[in-house]
Amino acid sequence: MATVETKTAETIVITGANRGIGLGLVRCFAAAGHHVVAACRQPDKAEALRLVPGAVEIMQLDVADAVSSAAFARQIGTRTIDVLINNAGVMGGNKQGFANMDYDAWLRTFEINTLGPFRLTSLLLPNLKQSKHARVVTISSQMGAFGLDMGFGTYAYRSSKSAVSKVMQVLALELKADNIIVCPVHPGWVQTDMGGANAQIPVEQSAGGLFKLISTLTLAQSGRFWTWDGREHIW
Ligand SMILES: NC(=O)c1ccc[n+]([C@@H]2O[C@H](COP(=O)([O-])OP(=O)(O)OC[C@H]3O[C@@H](n4cnc5c(N)ncnc54)[C@H](OP(=O)(O)O)[C@@H]3O)[C@@H](O)[C@H]2O)c1
Repeated sequence: MATVETKTAETIVITGANRGIGLGLVRCFAAAGHHVVAACRQPDKAEALRLVPGAVEIMQLDVADAVSSAAFARQIGTRTIDVLINNAGVMGGNKQGFANMDYDAWLRTFEINTLGPFRLTSLLLPNLKQSKHARVVTISSQMGAFGLDMGFGTYAYRSSKSAVSKVMQVLALELKADNIIVCPVHPGWVQTDMGGANAQIPVEQSAGGLFKLISTLTLAQSGRFWTWDGREHIW
């Protein structure tokens, strides 16, 4: 069972919070007594999110949209953010093979999976700087790891995840002076709309493991790639 390491309630921003791993993370952090800013594209349709008990504040955010992201940051205002979880992501559609690439969809995948986390981190930097234990955790994927051979295909998704992992590695170096921990993480192969019903682990297991990892991350772990269950992942 996940243990609560923190003494005081923290403020946690989670993107893509209305379903899948994001929703699982909202449940974990809210159950532990934290204040969760649950960001999603369509708050009016986020029925499951509204039912989560605890201090959950639902806000509109499309991470691919610069205007929406700036409006989100304005709404956050000057409050301290302890944890930003860049979870929102897409697989990128069916046409991402060598012979049938949808190039517009590839660009869109990059906007959501790679540019979105970078932009949001930069917009919320003043808020993160105010925290005594600031963490930026980006849900990447083992499918973007250079050190793993996982067959071919899904070029858009894989390249967007390789890129966001690299972006977070570099950002970790840049934000070290501010004591901000930055890590990409692999959440496991998870039973969500994206992962499918045959995936290896349920959302609760992935989110519970990520909760534990995120709660205890130290600066020494920053700039390294982690798995949901606390193991270091190959780049
Ligand atoms: N499931 C797995 O096995 C697995 C493995 C490795 C990595 N991951 C990563 O884990 C993260 C969560 O995946 P999941 O399995 O929970 O997927 P999911 O069930 O498909 O949920 C994806 C979430 O991202 C949101 N989203 C998509 N585009 C967005 C945008 N432009 N702005 C804001 N939110 C957006 C979705 O919102 P809407 O409902 O509005 O579409 C939804 O809340 C993703 O980054 C994914 O790449 C998943």
